[in-house]
Amino acid sequence: MTISRRTFIKASALATVGARISEGRTPVTIRQPVAQRPVVISSSNHVRLEDGTDYYNGIRATKKAFQLLLEGKDTLDAVIAGVNIVEDDPNDISVGYGGLPNEQGEVELDCSVMHGPTGRAGAVAALKYVKNPSRVAKLVMEHTDHVMLVGEGALRFALAYGFQKQNLLTERSRKIWLAWLEQHSDRDDWGPSQVPIIPEPESAEQRWIRQIIAERPTGTINCLALNEKGDLSGVTTTSGLAFKLPGRVGDSPLIGAGLYVDNQIGAAGSTGRGEEVIRTCGAHTVVENMRHGMSPLEACLDALKRIVHFYPGRPDFQVKFYAINKRGEYAGASIWSGAEFAVTDARGSRIEPCVYLYERPKKK
Ligand code: GLY
Repeated sequence: MTISRRTFIKASALATVGARISEGRTPVTIRQPVAQRPVVISSSNHVRLEDGTDYYNGIRATKKAFQLLLEGKDTLDAVIAGVNIVEDDPNDISVGYGGLPNEQGEVELDCSVMHGPTGRAGAVAALKYVKNPSRVAKLVMEHTDHVMLVGEGALRFALAYGFQKQNLLTERSRKIWLAWLEQHSDRDDWGPSQVPIIPEPESAEQRWIRQIIAERPTGTINCLALNEKGDLSGVTTTSGLAFKLPGRVGDSPLIGAGLYVDNQIGAAGSTGRGEEVIRTCGAHTVVENMRHGMSPLEACLDALKRIVHFYPGRPDFQVKFYAINKRGEYAGASIWSGAEFAVTDARGSRIEPCVYLYERPKKK
């Protein structure tokens, strides 16, 4: 299935009021969506395969969650069902099954969930062998007196609740990991022999893998839902930074960093470089900004500015925030241009561009 990006942006532009403002010297587009309930938003999770096929997992997730909201399902059940599609998809190399592994070739998953109506939360970090950390995180919320379980303890807990152990490394993610091992350093013994050979032309698959390695994805899906009554919930699930140190935990499973929900105010989540979001309590900051009167967009941009403030030049990483307020206004914002997010509401499903702080320099 190939999705035309232009079609989605055009569709969203019809439904929004657009204006240009200047953030320092960089112009950004301010979009003011008409408030609507119910609404579901998520990161775009654009999947592009070796053969050029592409689709948006964010559209699949928000569509599923929205459909469940229309059936009267709980907002947390709705977003978890939405992201389960992405966790199960072997083609999405940043979440769940098929996610890129740590430097040892082991897939370690992080996730948090937060249920607005009860204010409860659950999370798992560095969970191996179980492809749906979002479902395990919800069980932690419901069946323990804790908020977060990690590593071996999280796995034991999942197995106790009937989850099956499975190898989460697909052929595709194994190949990418091996290529990374061979390419990331010329000071170890991985990589081509020093004996000269006649170089062969790079195949399309090799080029695809090289681009992924250069990017070093921090993938992740964050999905937020608001139902007709005004109840909110959210989930953030990821395989984390590709080729990370074993045991590295990003922002996704940390309540207040990769996810925060306050049923009186709104919900927020993040994707991108988790370390920056942790240091600035990202999602909590966005929700607190909304509490003090900012729109979802202003709240996200302010939280991004708190990150870039630490980098007197311009940071070389990407962070994106997503937010919905109680009324149904929503936003996606990023440090760098080119980012997108998915929305499903009564007007349909679409991809919208994130508002950004800096224009990415054009490739020469
Ligand atoms: N934001 C995902 C991560 O850094 O792990």
